[in-house]
Amino acid sequence: MTETRPKQGKSVFIRTYGCQMNVYDSERMAGLLKPLGYGLADAPEAADLVILNTCHIREKAAEKVYSELGRLKRMKANKALQGGDMKIAVAGCVAQAEGAEITARAPQVDMVVGPQAYHRLPELLARAARDDGDILETDFAVDEKFDRLAEREAEGPTAFLTIQEGCDKFCTFCVVPYTRGAEVSRNIDAIVAEARALAAQGVKEITLLGQNVNAWRSTPPAGEAGDEWGLGELCRHLAKIDGLERIRFTTSHPRDMDDGLIAAFGEEKKLMPYLHLPVQAGADRVLKAMNRGHTTEHYVGLIEKIRAARPDIAISGDFIVGFPGETASDFEETLVLAKAIGYASAFSFKYSRRPGTPGAVMAKQVAETEKDERLARLQALLEAQRQDFNSRQIGKALPVLFEKPGRHEGQLIGRSPYLQSVHVSAPQSMLGSIAPVKIKGVTPNALAGVLAKQGEAAA
Ligand code: SAH
Ligand code: SF4
Ligand code: F3S
Repeated sequence: MTETRPKQGKSVFIRTYGCQMNVYDSERMAGLLKPLGYGLADAPEAADLVILNTCHIREKAAEKVYSELGRLKRMKANKALQGGDMKIAVAGCVAQAEGAEITARAPQVDMVVGPQAYHRLPELLARAARDDGDILETDFAVDEKFDRLAEREAEGPTAFLTIQEGCDKFCTFCVVPYTRGAEVSRNIDAIVAEARALAAQGVKEITLLGQNVNAWRSTPPAGEAGDEWGLGELCRHLAKIDGLERIRFTTSHPRDMDDGLIAAFGEEKKLMPYLHLPVQAGADRVLKAMNRGHTTEHYVGLIEKIRAARPDIAISGDFIVGFPGETASDFEETLVLAKAIGYASAFSFKYSRRPGTPGAVMAKQVAETEKDERLARLQALLEAQRQDFNSRQIGKALPVLFEKPGRHEGQLIGRSPYLQSVHVSAPQSMLGSIAPVKIKGVTPNALAGVLAKQGEAAA
């Protein structure tokens, strides 16, 4: 990370919760504040401005924000006693969902800024400095946000790049359509320019982000063929950028997985063999109640097609257990589906009732103890599948992108094409490069390997 001295010696501390899009947004906010003289603080105590970039997806995520605000309240008071000042901003999905309720419940908060208003931060800060009272900015203007957020500095060989934001799917459990607004595709020229800028700074791998990233659509850029481009065409186009070696994207929705994108997995070498494709549940009646808009048969069919295009692909997913009305036998179908697919990795959650979503007021809410039991059984299965997938890499030589130093002297940590962490003894000079690694063993959360000869990598 490159550090430049802030012009006026001010500092900002940003704490990020939730998904990768929040990580990306936090970086962009830091980039926007830098010309105003804000350097990054390592801890909130010292900072002139603290931003909590929040997540509203489950009750626990949202509640974390209020306990953090409690701690910040004391810090702010201490600072005031010493004649200092700390401004507190709540950004992200809790800001969007709760708006003015936040300042009512936590008066220490100076600003509430929704995800579509980050480009207005400088103006809001100026107002906060004048003590204009509570500041609330939660309008939707996605395009403007993208256009007006500053360029950011790459912080290593990998980077996120948001290409799509918002969701029109309205799954009955989910707050995202309300917090992030309607599906919007970012302009292709802006995406390409940002990808080029990242590559020029030494970024080797980009992960394209969107709440429904594969819903991204655009007219082709000038001089390119086709009527309408989807994510498959975008990946192929970005793959032409020199220096960029790996492309990933997340999160996809099964309803938007078109044939062009599936084909790209088989044909575009830079598109990594890893796909996060959430299914949520394995019983069709639960999928229907969730308003997922597809059946288990459709999902299994998709995975078959994708594997036909790219046989070694690592499939990842998300699951919710205990959605209202999910019976014990519905849950058994989730286990059956997970067994049929064989996940390389997966996230699973207990259903959390979110205010304002249809699921929250549905009859037949499932008891917490029952959810606990189902989650434990599903997680045991998914963990066994993950270990099995990892173990199957032993003996292979995989190309690894070295991202950071390991905990031990002389060790580097990188990623395989399948997004597994790989620990290797290698010189620091290899950071940021891709080299073949012979996989020798597995630990609970990573693969361990040794540098192999160039040209040996299989995937
Ligand atoms: N856009 C993505 C997911 C966004 S949220 C998609 O459609 O797949 C990430 C995950 O959180 C979801 O896939 C879901 O598994 C989980 N999730 C969302 N709302 C939830 C809720 N109310 N309770 C529990 N888990 C939830
Ligand atoms: Fe939420 Fe469903 Fe949209 Fe994903 S597709 S963000 S789970 S509403
Ligand atoms: Fe959370 Fe908002 Fe992301 S609710 S998961 S931070 S889109």
